[in-house]
Amino acid sequence: MMPLAWALLGYLLGSIPFGLVIARALGLGDLRKIGSGNIGATNVLRTGNRPAALATLLLDSGKGAIAVLLARQFGGETAAILAGGAAFLGHCFPVWLGFRGGKGVATFLGTLIALHWPLGLAACATWALMAASLRISSLSALTAAALAPILAWTFGRSDLILVCLSMAALIFLRHRANIARLRAGTEPRIGRKG
Ligand code: G3P
Repeated sequence: MMPLAWALLGYLLGSIPFGLVIARALGLGDLRKIGSGNIGATNVLRTGNRPAALATLLLDSGKGAIAVLLARQFGGETAAILAGGAAFLGHCFPVWLGFRGGKGVATFLGTLIALHWPLGLAACATWALMAASLRISSLSALTAAALAPILAWTFGRSDLILVCLSMAALIFLRHRANIARLRAGTEPRIGRKG
């Protein structure tokens, strides 16, 4: 398959808005009108339904991982990187939602795990440690994203630095409202409606 085809496959997988679908299927409402308005697991948790939030986290990260694993199996490592990056873009800019998607954090983590599992696990551990100590999802995500390119270099995967940097840059852009709330001290803690 051509590189573009792997990117398209990744994009289409990534563009499935699992949080939105799950919340709607369970009658939890339209996530875009709840809490932060984001379609990710953190906002699903604000509905009070933990299993739905967990399912969103697993499926949103799983779609990035599956895109990478499929592309690697049939197209090699470059195809895998392309497909993972495209899955992340698909989550952030899904065609089905008029290109207004999520912030990409779970898909970023799933993609990293499949691209290089020690790097992915280190990024997940960064998120988890930050979340356990400060209980702020966005700050945990921003820290993990900022560290990812450095971690890629540390693990000897310089071929992943560019994709990590690009995803981190987009994660920061997608968190502009969160960053403003963090600076104002009004960012809600995990699980709070805020
Ligand atoms: O994964 C998204 C998280 O970092 C922030 O979500 O809903 O608090 O904007 P939210």
